[in-house]
Amino acid sequence: MIIKLANGKEIPVETHKARMVQKINLVPADRRLKAIEEAGYNTFQLKTKDIFLDMLTDSGVNAMSDKQFAGFITTDDAYAGSMTFYEFAEAVKDILGYQYVMNVHQGRAAEHLISKVFCKPGDVVLTNYHFTTTKVHIEETGKATCLEIYIDEALNTKSTHPFKGSMDPQKLKDCIKQYGKDKISYVRMEATANLLGGQPFSMANLKEITKIAKANGILTVLDGSLISENAYLIRQREKGYENKTVAEIVKEMCSLVDLFYMSGRKNTCVRGGCIATNRKDLFDKIKDWLPVYEGFFTYGGMSQREVGMMAVGMREMVDPEVAGCAIEQVKYFVNRLDEIGIPVVTPPGGLACHIDARKFAPHIPKEEYIAGAVTAALYIASGVRSMERGTISMERAKDGTEVYADLELTRIAIPRRVYTISQIEYTIDRIQWLYKHRDLIKGLKFVEEPPVLRFFIGKLAPLDNWGAKLCDAFKKDFGPDL
Ligand code: F0G
Repeated sequence: MIIKLANGKEIPVETHKARMVQKINLVPADRRLKAIEEAGYNTFQLKTKDIFLDMLTDSGVNAMSDKQFAGFITTDDAYAGSMTFYEFAEAVKDILGYQYVMNVHQGRAAEHLISKVFCKPGDVVLTNYHFTTTKVHIEETGKATCLEIYIDEALNTKSTHPFKGSMDPQKLKDCIKQYGKDKISYVRMEATANLLGGQPFSMANLKEITKIAKANGILTVLDGSLISENAYLIRQREKGYENKTVAEIVKEMCSLVDLFYMSGRKNTCVRGGCIATNRKDLFDKIKDWLPVYEGFFTYGGMSQREVGMMAVGMREMVDPEVAGCAIEQVKYFVNRLDEIGIPVVTPPGGLACHIDARKFAPHIPKEEYIAGAVTAALYIASGVRSMERGTISMERAKDGTEVYADLELTRIAIPRRVYTISQIEYTIDRIQWLYKHRDLIKGLKFVEEPPVLRFFIGKLAPLDNWGAKLCDAFKKDFGPDL
């Protein structure tokens, strides 16, 4: 909830109380240096005992409500026909407005099934922007090509455009002409566009895009992994939606597309996902493959306890205090950094505060993984774990050449209802310190590079041993204990 203080400033104030907490430790700088070395300068490889604030992601790490835990206890365990699944299906009908739903174990499992069923070799999938796992499934499972047709403003990291996640309607029309409608497996809209910095699209854009697709008989797919955040931002930023509820906006978004899927790990629960639609023909095509990869249709790769929690979470996600709590913290975080001159993606979106690493460390050449270096440096300087969202998160081309990311971002995610403003203030302070010492950050090189989704388990080494020099500078300013 946004509270206006007597001095005129606005701050997000929590509308929940923490009744169960978990201890975390800030290990000293020397240990952080050792830990990141052991992790191959890849924050995914760190162990949480060495992490102070875990801002890697919001996936599977949002705080759960008391009611969600109650949903965990009161589930109906059964391999087939569980009433908990039908409670979940009821929640999907009420919140998303879809009649047909199946669970899958997480978002990428939905991507696997959808790519398998709807992509053909030689096809293209048109999207407002790719997500890492989405692109791999479209291109590896579906043997199609993932093409991004974002608006020009999308890659401008310092912007006031309210809907940088929108798709360019003219580019969509051009692609239909160029490839032919039969070669387009589907048009995919991601709410919010994760790798653009959690940027939303507008309802007007979704209407226009789905209208063009439908007029050409092309299937439309909505990745709703952060649908309630996109809806919250539509309510704040789009004329005509200021008096609608987040619930109404979510339902309207869903009504515009043929097929919906989501990672449940972000919006609804700590585990899970689903595919939903009102078109029985589409549903049946996917459902046939569900038992092969996920399990029987009333559990779809999840335990019933998780389905029970997800049913509660599905209803809770449209509560504006839930939909907006990360967004308001992100806004606070981004605005504070912007004010003190740190290059961050603006306007603030959902999910995370994103440092524009190219501007933060302009001296690092693009071949040396700029965002990866800034992400590792932030850990050394603070114990805060963020995530590289740049070239390391891209796949190499088939011939092995490097594909440079459009944006080099250090993503500092805000899981919902987990961290406080004082913890965010600590992070801001250390980012500011790092920015002053940014010349000490140098590049990285791969020492172990897996062939696919290398960002998860790849290992890198710092060029010129810069981590140790950064650590020394930190100790000089803060002493050996912090
Ligand atoms: N789509 C979007 C937009 C996502 O952000 C994610 C996951 C997925 C699909 C895949 O879902 O992880 O449940 O298999 N995003 C996480 C993140 C991993 O950290 O942003 P999943």
